[in-house]
Amino acid sequence: MNMEELKTAISVSGLRKCFQDKEVLKGIDFSVSSGTIYALLGSNGAGKTTAVRILTTLLKADSGKVEIAGYDVGKHPRKVHEIISLTGQFSAVDSVLTGKENLIMMGELHHLSSPEKKACELLKYFGLSEDADKSVSVFSGGMKRKLDIAMSLVGNPKVIFLDEPTTGLDPQSRYSMWNMIRDLNHSGVTVFLTTQYLEEAEQLADIIAILDQGSIIAEGTPEELKAYLPQGVIKLSFQDAENLERAKNLLKTYRMSMESEKRELLVFTDGKADTLAEIFYRLYKNKVSIQDFARLTPDLEDVFLAMIQEKGGESNGSLC
Ligand SMILES: Nc1ncnc2c1ncn2[C@@H]1O[C@H](COP(=O)(O)OP(=O)(O)OP(=O)(O)O)[C@@H](O)[C@H]1O
Ligand SMILES: [Mg+2]
Repeated sequence: MNMEELKTAISVSGLRKCFQDKEVLKGIDFSVSSGTIYALLGSNGAGKTTAVRILTTLLKADSGKVEIAGYDVGKHPRKVHEIISLTGQFSAVDSVLTGKENLIMMGELHHLSSPEKKACELLKYFGLSEDADKSVSVFSGGMKRKLDIAMSLVGNPKVIFLDEPTTGLDPQSRYSMWNMIRDLNHSGVTVFLTTQYLEEAEQLADIIAILDQGSIIAEGTPEELKAYLPQGVIKLSFQDAENLERAKNLLKTYRMSMESEKRELLVFTDGKADTLAEIFYRLYKNKVSIQDFARLTPDLEDVFLAMIQEKGGESNGSLC
């Protein structure tokens, strides 16, 4: 099957998985378009690695359907292996061998005609040429992570799974890993990654799914997710309690939240310029003195926390 012609690289529906009596994936659905970057964002224990292991045929689902490039992972694992690669939390790198030897070994496993040529290409691509003949045991964490991804690219995968590709990396290595992931994607590879970092998801992904305790609680572009929270939140601060109290009374027609100790008032508006002008005019006309003001733009972290708090009260019946 030709991936260029196939619009959906990954299709998942009703995916469930239990470990003993714990339901770790509670029936998740999503699909990933070919050529895009999709991020599964979630905290420790959310079920990210479990999902990746099922999608890459390493683990069997209890129920649900998973297709990679149209092939069912349960029925056609060999076809799926030809299309995908997996790297991340569990590394395939052998520390006794050098970086180059590792890549050559992988090339031989893939029956490449010239494994050495491919190894050199990948070492160059990942900026590891100078360290090619060093034993992997002396590689830094970032170098190992790069080599791990290089290993997974030996077979020219169409879809790549990266399970927390930058966890534990310093900011500089994380940044260079992001660029590599972008490059890989620009060369036509579909990328499925998991992360605990909102910034990483926002930087890289076309679509982000938030996985919380085994359920996808939100999915969309970074902009769509941010739009979940109101954009027109105004923070007003006042010199004293009297001005705060008067402002609160004058703005009763708006939803508000007050922080008395900080003498701050959050006013939830529709964000339109006319509305903001009206608020300031109302305060000005009544001689309320404003010490400072700011317009708050919610970031993904606010969205993430708001969504998780909202879902907190809901109970999910376990099917284990
Ligand atoms: N083989 C297993 N047997 C029993 N429980 C498991 C097994 N694998 C995972 N779990 C449990 O399933 C839940 C989800 O684990 P998973 O590794 O998928 O989370 P994660 O989102 O990848 O977390 P992290 O960010 O820490 O890597 C956890 O509660 C974990 O303890
Ligand atoms: Mg994990």
